[in-house]
Amino acid sequence: MVCLGNICRSPLAEGILQSKVDAARIEVMSAGTGGWHVGEQPDPRSIAVAKKNGLDITKQRGRQFKASDFEEFDYIFIMDASNEENVLALASSDKHRGKVQMILEEIFPSEKVDVPDPYYGGDRGFDQVYEMLEKACTKIAVRL
Ligand code: 4NP
Repeated sequence: MVCLGNICRSPLAEGILQSKVDAARIEVMSAGTGGWHVGEQPDPRSIAVAKKNGLDITKQRGRQFKASDFEEFDYIFIMDASNEENVLALASSDKHRGKVQMILEEIFPSEKVDVPDPYYGGDRGFDQVYEMLEKACTKIAVRL
């Protein structure tokens, strides 16, 4: 699960998908394409919306997406087109590029719909992000 800062959207996506799959079989991880928040907890607004929906994401810590993640993970879900570009710039093979997918393609097939960045907005933005990710992750979990 990849966004820009790895403190708002992708930590929610990580928490939601991990809650829907067998942790003994599937590891879900998140990252940001930027490095500003490496080692930090998710944004308090993401922690709050997760908690409201029964998920604890407080143990997550920010990490930056790196080229070796293409080998480490089978699927790479991206929150928006700008970060898809950032990730694809680090890909070195068609195999890597083939792992990358915009996460909302799950619910809006073949459309390039972004999960809006809620960082500079109010709490309501986090609720909307949660709802979108919940729908997308439900589909992903069924497929996995
Ligand atoms: P995220 O939101 O990509 O959903 O984690 C952001 C968090 C921090 C920043 C940008 C977006 N930032 O510029 O620090």
